[in-house]
Amino acid sequence: MWPCDRLSRSRTRFGRAHTMAAPLKSLVSDDGRYQTAFQLFLQRSSEHQCMLDFIHTQLPDILASVGDGKPHLNVIGVGSGAGEIDLEMLSELHQKHPAATVDNEVVEPSAQQLHNYRVLVSQKPELSFVKFSWNQMTAAQFEERWKLKKTTAKADFIHMVQMLYYVKDPGATISFFQHLLSEKGKLLIILVSGQSGWGKLWRTYRHQLCNAEISQCVTTADIESYLESTGVRYRSYELPSQLDITECFSEGDGTGELLLDFLTEVLDFSKTASPELKAGVLELLRHPDCSVETQGRVIFNNNLGVLVIDPQS
Ligand SMILES: C[S@@+](CC[C@H](N)C(=O)[O-])C[C@H]1O[C@@H](n2cnc3c(N)ncnc32)[C@H](O)[C@@H]1O
Repeated sequence: MWPCDRLSRSRTRFGRAHTMAAPLKSLVSDDGRYQTAFQLFLQRSSEHQCMLDFIHTQLPDILASVGDGKPHLNVIGVGSGAGEIDLEMLSELHQKHPAATVDNEVVEPSAQQLHNYRVLVSQKPELSFVKFSWNQMTAAQFEERWKLKKTTAKADFIHMVQMLYYVKDPGATISFFQHLLSEKGKLLIILVSGQSGWGKLWRTYRHQLCNAEISQCVTTADIESYLESTGVRYRSYELPSQLDITECFSEGDGTGELLLDFLTEVLDFSKTASPELKAGVLELLRHPDCSVETQGRVIFNNNLGVLVIDPQS
């Protein structure tokens, strides 16, 4: 059972008053504001830089072993966003397997993000070794379609970068995609690390902040527990990363409010959360468990975890 499921069940059983009188709206219910908040988060954090460091230093060795010398490789990217990270990974794959052509399935529900990804691809003629298939859909819809079509093809490399928060059952999603791996395939997952400020925030305010419809407050520590309980083999890496959240503490600052929406995943958090919840979250965000204060800035621990999963044995 998934940690969130366990918690929501105990909540029902004991009838505890964790739910708010007027439930807070999830940020993901407003794709426009979600995407704007995500762009701001990328500007204010070292999120993509730490991923790129990983992709350029550690990923090449991982990719060297996929495919087993095949002339053609199948890749699936789930929750690809605008594709910046996916394209870096494809480029490393190409360097390790320069003679191979690649079929790349892109699974991304946001029309805007998919459009941005296509624009990026159109600007890179060096990607001629890749054939892109664009799937504007969620991971669950992709799974349903795959099963309906009874597709038997196997994938050599599957990645889910900062995506598993948005599925209902991360364990089932991992299991489905792991079963698609070829014998020498790899499934790569990136999420916030259990040691990050996010982990602390979610352990403290899970009942108030986390959307029960999706897993949302999941860290690599949760996924590792799940993988260990099911006997799945994996390797893990910790990527140090930071997020400047200074503006969150300036009442009425638009940038701070948008960042707070992203941190809490609540739409218009500053305006809709109770004064107690707002005060508690702000206090925790600048607590040393979550952030360090340096040169007048509040720097939130945005460490990421990477998990590399082998095929089912
Ligand atoms: C935090 S962004 C990460 C984007 C990109 N992987 C990156 O790291 O830059 C999460 C992405 O997952 C997509 N997404 C949301 N729900 C999803 C779902 N159920 N299945 C697949 N992707 C989803 C969003 O549209 C968004 O592009």
